[in-house]
Amino acid sequence: MSADALDEGFYRAREAELAERVGPKRFAHSQAVAATAAELAAAYGLDERKARLAGILHDWDKAYDDSAILARVEELDAAVDPELLSMPRLLHGMTAAAALARDFPQIPADVIQAVERHTVGAEAMEPLDMVVYVADALEPGRTGPEAEALRQAVGAVSLRELYLRTYAHLLCSMLARRKRLYSKTAAFWNACMEDEGSYRAAPGADPMPPAAR
Ligand SMILES: [Fe+2]
Ligand SMILES: [Fe+2]
Repeated sequence: MSADALDEGFYRAREAELAERVGPKRFAHSQAVAATAAELAAAYGLDERKARLAGILHDWDKAYDDSAILARVEELDAAVDPELLSMPRLLHGMTAAAALARDFPQIPADVIQAVERHTVGAEAMEPLDMVVYVADALEPGRTGPEAEALRQAVGAVSLRELYLRTYAHLLCSMLARRKRLYSKTAAFWNACMEDEGSYRAAPGADPMPPAAR
């Protein structure tokens, strides 16, 4: 059953539908994310068809405005952290996942999950989740030195490292633009940092100065 959703015909039909759902710029972005996700999948030994499908579908609900996306959460009974109801621009991944799973049950669960996670990430990102998340940030239409640096790193660093660089880039850009952060943003980052040994003193650290004793 799920093989049908990975056919060329299913892809082309959803692509044509997407062209009706979003404007031309968003459509071109989605096509670029699909192509980039497939390239990343090839570079990191993952299923290219799943990556391409998740890429074309990731912004399925992007054209809804704030009140419409909130109505869509209700209509779909989408599982959404209540905090995100005050950040409607971040909801389109979750509603897209819920709508696509309902309307196209043949789409594999890992493709749906990658769509769902592309806006805010998650604590335990799977490789396909990371591919879509990264492709969204480094598709050729993304300009600027950070996007270029990410493109240069493809294949030269691990997928996890590429994801962490992308996450750090997007987080820094949120801070620079004075955007409010989703509170789980730090938790998702820390989940990846658990074995990194942050904030531990190196052995042989400076002796404590006498005044502080
Ligand atoms: Fe998006
Ligand atoms: Fe996107």
